[in-house]
Amino acid sequence: MRLLSLIFPPDSMAKFHVNGEQVDFRGASDTPLLWVIRDHLALTGTKYGCGMAQCGACTVHVNGEPTRSCVTPAASLEGKHVLTIEGIGPTTQGMITYLILEDQRRVDILDVLWLG
Ligand code: FES
Repeated sequence: MRLLSLIFPPDSMAKFHVNGEQVDFRGASDTPLLWVIRDHLALTGTKYGCGMAQCGACTVHVNGEPTRSCVTPAASLEGKHVLTIEGIGPTTQGMITYLILEDQRRVDILDVLWLG
């Protein structure tokens, strides 16, 4: 279990799982899940784009539902399961997801699909 106490005095707490690992979050109630994932868990596959739930670069799954982590407070995740790109693993679905995300970062996915 990881204990996360952010810089500011915690005004909220939540226990949830990220890629199967329990996280004990203690921080500001408005701390976005995205910053917990990237800055405190060092899972940098989830990206920041617009910060306004518009582009999808920060999408993770929360209890199986696609969720924009840039606008989801970590404090709202009590008992939930978060899955990031790192948690998908080397499956076909994982590779396709990875390639789609890479496409957003200007990799030409068409070359890859022609191979498969
Ligand atoms: S960063 Fe664009 S939707 Fe979250």
